[in-house]
Amino acid sequence: MDIEQLLKEMSVFEKIMQCTQLISSFYRGTKVEDNAANAIGPYTQLGLKQEDIYLAGSVNFLSDETGAMLPASELRRIQKECMERSPHHIPTLFVQDVIHGYVTIYPIPLAMAATFNPDLMERCAAMAAKEASMNGVDMALGPMVDLARDARWGRVAEGFGEDPFLGAAMAKASVYGYQGRQDKKAKISYEHVGSCMKHFAGYGAPEAGRDYNLVDMSELTFRSFYLPNYQAAIEAGVSAAMSAFHAFDGIPVTGNKKILKTLLRDELHFEGVVMSDYAACTELITQGVAENEEEAAYLSLEATCDIEMMTTVYAQSVPVLLKQGKIKMSQLDDACRRVLTVKERLGLFIDPYRQCDEQKAKTLFLCPKHRELAKEAAEESAVLLKNDGILPLPKQGKKVALIGPLASNPRILGTWRCGGQEKDSVTMLQGLQEKIGANNVVYARGCDIDYRGTDEREIPLAVQKAKEADVVILCLGEDEDDSGESASKTNLTLPDIQKKLYRAVLAVNPNIVLCVFNGRPLVLTEENETARAILDCFFPGSECGHAIADLLFGDANPSGKLPMSFPRNVGQCPLYYNHVNTGRPRSDEYHRCWNQSAYIDSPNTPLYPFGYGLSYTKFAYGPLRLSKKVLQQGKADSLTVSCDITNIGPCDGKETAQLYLRDLVGSVVRPVRELKGFQKVFLRKGETKTVSFEIQEDLLAFVASDFQKRAEPGRFRVWIGSSSDVIDGDEFVLNKE
Ligand code: BGC
Repeated sequence: MDIEQLLKEMSVFEKIMQCTQLISSFYRGTKVEDNAANAIGPYTQLGLKQEDIYLAGSVNFLSDETGAMLPASELRRIQKECMERSPHHIPTLFVQDVIHGYVTIYPIPLAMAATFNPDLMERCAAMAAKEASMNGVDMALGPMVDLARDARWGRVAEGFGEDPFLGAAMAKASVYGYQGRQDKKAKISYEHVGSCMKHFAGYGAPEAGRDYNLVDMSELTFRSFYLPNYQAAIEAGVSAAMSAFHAFDGIPVTGNKKILKTLLRDELHFEGVVMSDYAACTELITQGVAENEEEAAYLSLEATCDIEMMTTVYAQSVPVLLKQGKIKMSQLDDACRRVLTVKERLGLFIDPYRQCDEQKAKTLFLCPKHRELAKEAAEESAVLLKNDGILPLPKQGKKVALIGPLASNPRILGTWRCGGQEKDSVTMLQGLQEKIGANNVVYARGCDIDYRGTDEREIPLAVQKAKEADVVILCLGEDEDDSGESASKTNLTLPDIQKKLYRAVLAVNPNIVLCVFNGRPLVLTEENETARAILDCFFPGSECGHAIADLLFGDANPSGKLPMSFPRNVGQCPLYYNHVNTGRPRSDEYHRCWNQSAYIDSPNTPLYPFGYGLSYTKFAYGPLRLSKKVLQQGKADSLTVSCDITNIGPCDGKETAQLYLRDLVGSVVRPVRELKGFQKVFLRKGETKTVSFEIQEDLLAFVASDFQKRAEPGRFRVWIGSSSDVIDGDEFVLNKE
């Protein structure tokens, strides 16, 4: 497609409408609007006429009034109408929040980070892309790569946790999975979809963990910790970026030129399309930086926000702004060009339907291969937090009681489950019955999942069943919608009613295996004291019951590692392992200490640290070996640090060996340790393998006070271990050039 020629031919209004994203229900002739449309009303309320909607550059929320995803035939119909009714027959772009699966749902992104397995992440995202694309979706609004340190923020479920090294690896893998691995500007195949990283930038650090709230942090912190994930997605060739809702340095990002233009485009060389988040352009008015729609449109376009999502401040105001000379035609052309370019990259000008096919899509959804992959991911993401030896359970000879509001509950897909349906998820009860036979499992719900629940009437029956059993598998945690967008919390313990159930069961049977379902780190301090085992399942997706049953009964061995620190109490949030040292670091976790950076009523340390996770086997780490102790600066020098890991336990298993570094003296305060490498290795019982990491100068680089990234000569401490609380380690020196 000759985009420049097309631009010359398009009218101003056509260009503006390419920069407008609408909702699919506008095209469906329905009076009843779905949830998203409810928020903004019918298109007439946006000041649009019916013929205008066919000019919209992109369409979002591809579902019907019941929330069910639209079939390919319907997207084809809408596309055909757009093509026919728009003067230049420009295809629209179908975008959708494909976050962790399309119809086959794999674990939530936070859980995917717990796999420490970017290859698996890539394969899962590719599976989602294939299903989505075959059903007519052109672009996934994912991955969400916002680094997050505060478990109160519900959207931690959608991201990859607290660490930028792990986050960047997962961000890259997701983009590769969605778009395929190819050159930044190359065509995206019809088996893949475009990928939109979000929410640029720093959206994961809202004050007090409250969604959409102000983000206020130093540029040093932002650049050191929050920026790398976005950079990784850009390096992987991500074709779109979504601007964040919040105010950053005083200006909401959608109208923030410093963030979108100067940083994202000029400095990070992002060449793709930028879209606002939902209605964020008009929220510039609510946030008080724009008086009216005209000002909102001006700020957004000046900031180089190309597409406005679900509002029409561009349609209403850009003609006026152009007339007044406040914005230039070239600005509108640039925005429109970027939208057209992404369509070109997706092959929409060649085939506006991108070969989507309803029947073929159906054969992909939940096919055995896809279910198998979802199961593999669910198995690898679960984190064994505690085990006194009760796990794995024997398949015979024990009476098992399965209790809890998540025990026979299909709501285990998690937030943004797209086309995933409850009827297709394998519950814990189904999984257990298949594994050990229906007659060997007794079930009681015990209480409702609602965190506001107070009804205790089901507890006695659960207690009765627990009494008669040898072991109780208790399935507790959050409802799948209690983490995610708009789901911030001030209390991170299990809901009161579930605590009551837990205590009542514990009183009659101490053999509790607690399976936790959660979209964020929870406070499990009490349960850690009293349960015999705790398995953190997150929200495992469609194959939940099969995967978790395999883990509980030893047909699979847990290998997940925490991507976020689990606090002892909510007052510790935000909590993260890669903090800097204070001048008065706490020396003793268990006593009140004067003049030290501490709480008087809690240790500083988390209940479970970042990178932590047990296995049914045991891994012994041998001493560290450094190929040399001195690295020369500026000489492309490298040293290798390695150690032997031996599986000294009773079964085969996977271990994630983690490399941590500490720069002991720097021109700015440096974190007490930082993840700088990881390798997941499979070790047979009794087997020893060597893991090696190469350290070069660029791995030691950090953002200094002039915001430039470089390594500084001096001493470094290095560790290889099974979590971020690894001890011992060794030292080496980076010598001055
Ligand atoms: C969310 C985005 C999402 C968008 C469109 C917003 O509320 O913040 O992450 O992509 O809705 O679906």
